[in-house]
Amino acid sequence: MTKLEQIYEGKAKKVYRTDDPERFIVEYKDDATAFNGQKKGTILGKGAVNNRMTNLLMQMLEENGVPTHFVQELSDRETVVKKVTIVPLEVIIRNVSAGHFAQNYGVEEGIVFDEPTIEFSYKNDDLGDPLINSYHARALKLATREEIDTIVRLAFRVNDLLKEFFLTVGIRLVDFKLEFGRTSDGTIILADEISPDTCRLWDKDTNEKLDKDRFRRDLGQVEDAYQEVMRRLTGKTS
Ligand code: TMP
Repeated sequence: MTKLEQIYEGKAKKVYRTDDPERFIVEYKDDATAFNGQKKGTILGKGAVNNRMTNLLMQMLEENGVPTHFVQELSDRETVVKKVTIVPLEVIIRNVSAGHFAQNYGVEEGIVFDEPTIEFSYKNDDLGDPLINSYHARALKLATREEIDTIVRLAFRVNDLLKEFFLTVGIRLVDFKLEFGRTSDGTIILADEISPDTCRLWDKDTNEKLDKDRFRRDLGQVEDAYQEVMRRLTGKTS
């Protein structure tokens, strides 16, 4: 497969067209941003960790019946994915209070929920990714009712599978963000990434943060945390 011109550059990834009209190549960067791009930095080695971790998790999800965009890992930082148009919704699942949930609703971090929660943000940097509900999403024509039903069902299934998988390596899956895409035939599949950038991951025994909150909150040892998650998932560092 030949990598052709870049068609998109996001905060953490670049996307390239290829000679196959149904395939893109994504390339993961070490660039890190937080608070809608107001805080900027670099997390050395992050691109490789996020690429390899996303691919490992997406393959596990596929094996368990969740359709994803994953096709083939090309290198440390590059992966072939199915071409999709991204549904402009950030789908957030929470198992434990943290981050904006704790902030918005005035509770401490670490409260374990009886059931996971789901919420949507409208993926729009100019507006600061505002929280919306499924009626707003339909009014804005971001997705149909059927697509939203599929997205909700897949997101909770992903949560069940990821929660169990992370526990086997001593990690609590606190919360995470997913993005979905439409293939050319209109099928909804899981896209984007699943990484310490997009998940809150706490050590099961100590609750030590092993995710991007170390960067957002200047907690130090950011690189080490990313490598530690990868080491646990694969038994080796990248
Ligand atoms: P939040 O508590 O800040 O809303 O974040 C919930 C989860 O979503 C957390 O695991 C981090 C992830 N997330 C992203 O992946 N991208 C974002 O832009 C934001 C705000 C959160």
